[in-house]
Amino acid sequence: MSGIEKPLIAIVGATGKQGRSVAATLLQSQRFRVRALTRNQHSPEARHLERLGAQIVVVPPGSGHQRQLVAAFDDADGAFLMTPPIEPPDTTEFSLGRELADAAVEAGVRHIVFSTLENVDKISGGANPSYSRH
Ligand SMILES: NC(=O)c1ccc[n+]([C@@H]2O[C@H](COP(=O)([O-])OP(=O)(O)OC[C@H]3O[C@@H](n4cnc5c(N)ncnc54)[C@H](OP(=O)(O)O)[C@@H]3O)[C@@H](O)[C@H]2O)c1
Repeated sequence: MSGIEKPLIAIVGATGKQGRSVAATLLQSQRFRVRALTRNQHSPEARHLERLGAQIVVVPPGSGHQRQLVAAFDDADGAFLMTPPIEPPDTTEFSLGRELADAAVEAGVRHIVFSTLENVDKISGGANPSYSRH
């Protein structure tokens, strides 16, 4: 691959369990560059990713930061998306997920992986109250 820049993958939740596994795997493959999105570039997890070779980009928490999100995905060839653990009665997970996906699309990211579960409400018929939205 000499002379050709490796594809850049932007990872949401890169300091978390799923995200840091994705980041470490991509970096170890030596086939990709990694951009880790985080709320805090000083956390031990973010610093560890930086030592592994990831570019660290700070994005504000929560919804309503579309401009910063689009900038965070700028130039990325691919994106790994997930929503952080948000439990009912908080219902912001859906809007945050949509904003992440919209921002990646607006930034021109051509390959997007969105890690998610099936609709638990739907497949359980709402039978498990701990998973139901209120
Ligand atoms: N781990 C599992 O076994 C499992 C199983 C099923 C489903 N899931 C789901 O998969 C998703 C990821 O899980 P995970 O275990 O990888 O999560 P995690 O280890 O808790 O990491 C999530 C990352 O998201 C960021 N984050 C946390 N709260 C946030 C908030 N309110 N706003 C913005 N960013 C926030 C944090 O990064 P910064 O602090 O660096 O910003 C954190 O490192 C979650 O939706 C979870 O419910 C996980």
